Amino acid sequence: MAFAIICSGGDAPGMNPAIKKFVDYNYKLGIESYLIYDGLEGLIDNKIKKATHKDVAGILHMGGTIIRSSRSKRFFEHKYRVQAFQNLQALDIKGLVVLGGDGSFRAMDIFSSEFDVNFVGIPSTIDNDIYGTEYCLGVDTALNVIRDALDKIRDTASSFSRAFIVEVMGRDCGYLAVVSAMISGAEICVIPEVEFKSENIEARLQQEIKNGRNYILAIVSEGSKKTSEIHDWIQDKLGLETRVSILGHIQRGGNPTVYDRMMAFDYAINAIDYLNSHNDSNKVVVYQRGEFSFMEIEEVVSSKYTLPERYLKAINYLD
Ligand code: F6P
Repeated sequence: MAFAIICSGGDAPGMNPAIKKFVDYNYKLGIESYLIYDGLEGLIDNKIKKATHKDVAGILHMGGTIIRSSRSKRFFEHKYRVQAFQNLQALDIKGLVVLGGDGSFRAMDIFSSEFDVNFVGIPSTIDNDIYGTEYCLGVDTALNVIRDALDKIRDTASSFSRAFIVEVMGRDCGYLAVVSAMISGAEICVIPEVEFKSENIEARLQQEIKNGRNYILAIVSEGSKKTSEIHDWIQDKLGLETRVSILGHIQRGGNPTVYDRMMAFDYAINAIDYLNSHNDSNKVVVYQRGEFSFMEIEEVVSSKYTLPERYLKAINYLD
């Protein structure tokens, strides 16, 4: 019996430990492992290789993914999905583990509705925006990268009496922004899910500045598209010299944290155990209230992730 693993969409720290556990645990169960390189593009182009221990030796601590990833447009054309399925069949691959985000799961939903593909998805994206799970691989590492950056930006902001807007990733989801704001003690947090009303905090911040506050930290989620608006508002209404720092793709890199390594192990083991005991799986492993379970792919892709209420409330505590 053989299973394959693939990474699709934006890479996330935690993918490498998941790949390593996939190969090691399969070996223990007497299952052959295949690595699919370059994401769904590689599946179409048959970049599939039988894995040995050597392939996954010394990768546990590394960010990114050694089998690389891609966002495939071709996979949304039927003829390429036929090719992809034939490649899996030719190697007699009975199960597929897919590390990816929303777009990748949408692709798998289409794929599994057309072909007899037995797969389990592992939520992997720094955005933490997948319905049904409280945690996606990579988020803790990304948050630690942001925390490190914010601690440093605070040093220069306070030393030079400036305001800083720090734009963080997350696509349309404010998770990274709101958690970063909570753990850095930012004065302002702007996310796509909550309308930003400067009038709620303007008078208080003006008063604080009068009383001696000499710097401000504002975390703005990329999905809000409010970075330059907040910049102008702080400079004009609060009177602080303001700089913008867009953290960008450094948020996707870095050695996976302890938490991401542990979650990678648990996700991989759960995925393999499920594939090993089901012939018609089209599921995503989800993590809720400290437990792993499995959710139908259709349910995951047809619903929208919403931020937990307590995080939405946290924005109000900044006011
Ligand atoms: O989905 C992960 C993510 O890093 C988002 O936060 C961001 O909007 C997007 O990918 C960036 O995509 P790309 O790497 O293609 O520029």
